Amino acid sequence: MTSFILRKGAVERTGTDAVVVGVLSTDKGPRLAPGAEGVTEAYGRKLKPLLSMLDLSGKPGQAATVPTGGTLKAAVLVLVGMGPEVTGTSVRRAAGVAARSVSNAASVALALPSGDPALVRAAVEGWSLGGYSFDTYRTRRSDDRPGEVVVLCEDARKAEFTQALTEAQVVVDAITRTRDWVNTPPGDLRPTAFAEAVAALGKARKKALTATEKPAKGVKGVKVTVLDEQELEARGCGGILGVGRGSDNPPRLVQLSYEPAGATAHLALVGKGITYDSGGLSIKPGSSMTTMKMDMAGAAAVVNATFAIAELGLPVRVTTFAPMAENMISGSATRPGDVLTMYGGKTVEVLNTDAEGRLVLADALVHAREAKPDVVVDVATLTGACMVALGDRVTGLFGNDDGLVARIREVGERAGEALWPMPIPEEMGEKVRGNSKIADLAQHNSERWGGASYAAAFLREFVDDLPWAHLDIAGPAYNEKGAYGHVPTGGTGVAVATLVELARDLGERPFRADSADEEELEQAG
Ligand code: BES
Ligand code: MN
Ligand code: ZN
Repeated sequence: MTSFILRKGAVERTGTDAVVVGVLSTDKGPRLAPGAEGVTEAYGRKLKPLLSMLDLSGKPGQAATVPTGGTLKAAVLVLVGMGPEVTGTSVRRAAGVAARSVSNAASVALALPSGDPALVRAAVEGWSLGGYSFDTYRTRRSDDRPGEVVVLCEDARKAEFTQALTEAQVVVDAITRTRDWVNTPPGDLRPTAFAEAVAALGKARKKALTATEKPAKGVKGVKVTVLDEQELEARGCGGILGVGRGSDNPPRLVQLSYEPAGATAHLALVGKGITYDSGGLSIKPGSSMTTMKMDMAGAAAVVNATFAIAELGLPVRVTTFAPMAENMISGSATRPGDVLTMYGGKTVEVLNTDAEGRLVLADALVHAREAKPDVVVDVATLTGACMVALGDRVTGLFGNDDGLVARIREVGERAGEALWPMPIPEEMGEKVRGNSKIADLAQHNSERWGGASYAAAFLREFVDDLPWAHLDIAGPAYNEKGAYGHVPTGGTGVAVATLVELARDLGERPFRADSADEEELEQAG
């Protein structure tokens, strides 16, 4: 466990084992970033040749570790590239890279830009998230993470800054747990186990809350309800049951609710929780199956975001639904050609059992709608097509309300996550409603063009006119390559930070469904 300390102090006289500074790339060559003034001064004329010898131009991703030889009190200086400017994103990335460049130091000081609380948050998040590794399944585990991280900051005693540190740690915990769940092998996190893990977390939080003598104002627990297969049957959740039918581990629908007194907004979250996606009878090629334990990343994200929002005591009511199922093959598996009746009564012709996400989400979205929230946001590793469009680092952002989509882009930016708006062309809706020869809706489009938009159009059928956004995280949920910035290899925990930031934003500025109503009012004069 690393403990963070926010402290005002001179970087050159800080006695930690290592000190981290940023390097900015400017027109006039590399310069140490704000926060490192003491280092610039201590090195004096030696700095420029040092940077050039280390080949540090300040590009993001660059890092070098050098012994200070007494120039600073710390034994080692870690220099990390930040690109041309100081932003939350550049600090978060640099801190992440730094965390992987330092090993076997008992204590580290971060002398990165910390002039505003958002930068302190970024440094703490970047460091903790960048140093993540999943070694539960290794027989030999190395724990060489520093026990103490000192965040150097001029305003260390100001409340906004200490609060930024605490808040960063809450978000880090939520993202870390999301990654752990995503990285857990699929045989060890099947639907019933996943639901139990969520319920256990709810209980642990409740216990921690009752143990605190005076919980901070507004801090409330999260109520967890697990619906089992009998309950799903009773409610007519044909989507979740239809997908779960091929597995000998039954499906679940987990509901969370956080209801703080005096909530100013009500947010509903829905996350795809396919604990393993073999494709079902429309089976995937073997090579596409190896990463499909990550198909529950949406559920993990919405669950952990909900707990973080509660932990932060944000004044927003949150109702969360995580449908969990394993998409497998057996004599009882759903067949391409079968018709499912979804919760709420709409019928769907299943044409490809590998398009299972939209089926479990449909039942959950109707549940979310019934809770009458102001907005609903779903998060899902939904389509390979979205990865084709945006690559593996960017979330596809769909929705039926431009105001909500714009706000999510904004909060995503603040949270350090990349989202890009995607269209739902009109003809997609027509195909969803017109292409089944026997049921209300066609689950799958026979042509593959625009697969991510078709999936979004399908989901839209289940939200009616409730303001809704859909985050397709098929690309960024799981990093198959090497670590970059604060993102490790494997599960990334994407969307958690954006959702927490959205709740924060809704707490400050409640959502009003836009466009249509106002235009009508204007027209009515
Ligand atoms: N879970 C996959 C989507 C996915 C693919 C996530 C790659 C992450 C990486 C989803 O259930 C799926 O199989 N989608 C199909 C949809 C198709 C059958 C319409 C796909 O993308 O091929
Ligand atoms: Mn699938
Ligand atoms: Zn899937």
